[in-house]
Amino acid sequence: MIPEVGMTFLRTQAASRHLMRWCLCLVTAASGACRSEGPQAERPEVPLASVPPPATEAPAELHGVGGVEGVTPAYDQSRQPARFVAALGLSPGQRIADVGAGLGYFTLRLSDAVGPTGRVVATDINDEALKRLRQRVSARKNVEVRKVAPDTPGLEPGTYDLILLAEVDHFLPDRAAYLESLRPALTPNGRIAVTHLRAMRPPLVAAAQAAGYAVVSEFNDLPVHYLLFLQPTPGP
Ligand SMILES: C[S@@+](CC[C@H](N)C(=O)[O-])C[C@H]1O[C@@H](n2cnc3c(N)ncnc32)[C@H](O)[C@@H]1O
Repeated sequence: MIPEVGMTFLRTQAASRHLMRWCLCLVTAASGACRSEGPQAERPEVPLASVPPPATEAPAELHGVGGVEGVTPAYDQSRQPARFVAALGLSPGQRIADVGAGLGYFTLRLSDAVGPTGRVVATDINDEALKRLRQRVSARKNVEVRKVAPDTPGLEPGTYDLILLAEVDHFLPDRAAYLESLRPALTPNGRIAVTHLRAMRPPLVAAAQAAGYAVVSEFNDLPVHYLLFLQPTPGP
């Protein structure tokens, strides 16, 4: 637990770096490295209190692909990967999709959580992120890294106990359509977990309702992120 005064300092420092990160995204959007130009795409109206992963020294094609655990303590403090993955309530043997995995900030922990009998499919649209993620998980037999198209999840039907969308929904061309397209990939009791900065929650919840999902539970104990779980609402 970080003392409140420490968090305030952290957030103040982070705000300017976060603004810089979004500016970098704007500059690199034209190259597709930080794609968010779809009709429903939106950027936070105010700098949000998240600590961004280091981006300034990274090549442009890696802007907007998230971070790697263990590189920046303040970033890890803001995302709390151990508590986050514990909150997903995973069991050994489960099948998980990590949509928009980026550099795999959560992928390795997901792999550990489902163990050798489970499976993690990590998807992304960014070639450089996919390449680096493949290198990071090369020794893990239960992880598959998969390139997908921006509007197509590329997930097998009836397969996934949990589909994670971590800091990715704002990139999607149409959130509601994308969520609808995820439904066939879920197992009968499967869930979709979505996490992002708290200010990004309202558009996601609206899209989820439009796509026929209900928020079935929520974890409210992360410093700056929401984490909610969706399941399809029963048909008529
Ligand atoms: C901010 S990063 C998040 C990475 C990681 N999930 C995390 O929580 O740190 C967003 C990632 O989503 C990917 N992405 C953007 N649009 C996507 C789409 N339509 N389908 C899959 N991945 C997408 C980007 O390439 C980027 O790697």
